[in-house]
Amino acid sequence: MKREDFPVLQNKDIIYFDNAATTLKPSCVIETMNDYYQYYTSNIHRGLYDNSILVDYLYDSTRFVVRDFVHCSSAREVVFTSGATHSINLVVFGYMKYHLEAGDEVLLSKSEHASNVLPWLRLAEEVGIVIRFVPLDDNYAVRYEDVLSMVGEKTKVISLAHVTNVIGDVRDITKIGQYCRKHHILFHVDGAQSIPHMKVDFIHSCIDFLSFSGHKMCGPTGVGVLVARESLLKEMLPVFYGGGMNLSFHSEGGYELKDVPVLFEAGTPPIAEVLGLKSAILYLEEIGLDNIHAYEEELKQYLVSSLKKISDVILYNEDSKSGILAFNVKGVSSMDVAKYLNSYHICVRAGNHCSKMLKEDMKILSTVRVSLYFYNTKDEIDFLVRVLKKCRKVFRVVES
Ligand code: ALA
Repeated sequence: MKREDFPVLQNKDIIYFDNAATTLKPSCVIETMNDYYQYYTSNIHRGLYDNSILVDYLYDSTRFVVRDFVHCSSAREVVFTSGATHSINLVVFGYMKYHLEAGDEVLLSKSEHASNVLPWLRLAEEVGIVIRFVPLDDNYAVRYEDVLSMVGEKTKVISLAHVTNVIGDVRDITKIGQYCRKHHILFHVDGAQSIPHMKVDFIHSCIDFLSFSGHKMCGPTGVGVLVARESLLKEMLPVFYGGGMNLSFHSEGGYELKDVPVLFEAGTPPIAEVLGLKSAILYLEEIGLDNIHAYEEELKQYLVSSLKKISDVILYNEDSKSGILAFNVKGVSSMDVAKYLNSYHICVRAGNHCSKMLKEDMKILSTVRVSLYFYNTKDEIDFLVRVLKKCRKVFRVVES
């Protein structure tokens, strides 16, 4: 599907299976950014000349594209950040720090990415919040019932990935969100691994804060989004202060800040990247998120059934409904498997994938991860399988 749109796939003989780390970029995104640099480079919200006014429009109109893409209420709810990590830090240190107190409970899971754990750990040190972990089921997935079982009187926040980056389980964010709204619990969704692959509806799923990155959805690195309900944004404090976000400041110490969302975008923002993100969203919408998701599910099933035929391969999450598959080859370290696959120009990730608590439940330190996107094909999977079949022989694994 659409392979011709991706210059890397035309220029290099690779099989790219590391889409959960970052995706390839289509020509339209690259051209949009090149155009900005070649024809109308200028800063935003400062210039009175044509190029700057044009870029103001292109930048600001991206908020409306994001609004429609995630279906939030208003473009004022869309804050541009440098990525999902920045978005989550803004939620934790701009909002939660001033609204939670010692003893308040935040629910996470042990399969969260570092970016949805470490800011909370830091807040626990600063404020004394208590972090509790929703238990994972036998497939290392988070079930709705298990989330509910952890909710107590002190639960103030639930912060979960929609799709996790190793197990790839898809959490029922709509049921969790509706429960949270009814019980006055704030709901933060880390959408980094879901927004690029499936439709997410901010209003319908009763999400309060939604974080995601541009580079995992065919967009550039260095840009991400925080979508938050406007009433919450109005109660959030900036983490960065500087140009572009203030109305005035005075030698005697006072200052006035601009309104949401720009008061969270101090300094010159990633302009080319925001324009590139807009192109990426329009591109994904043209293909259709439902088509992307359905195709990835088909590819994942094909990958699982193909790898299951290799007796040396252990799969950890064959049932998860995303394009992410974690596995190991018996007797071979995941790093060696990844390097071996690289010798065939197959790009995968190996290690703990920034989910360093997952090992407590999985009892293994590291896995090989294949993460699919819509430009992958069954032929690529067939090649991976052929190569993996030879893997143990190459490493001369001796049974103990
Ligand atoms: N979060 C990215 C991954 O899972 C980097 O690989």
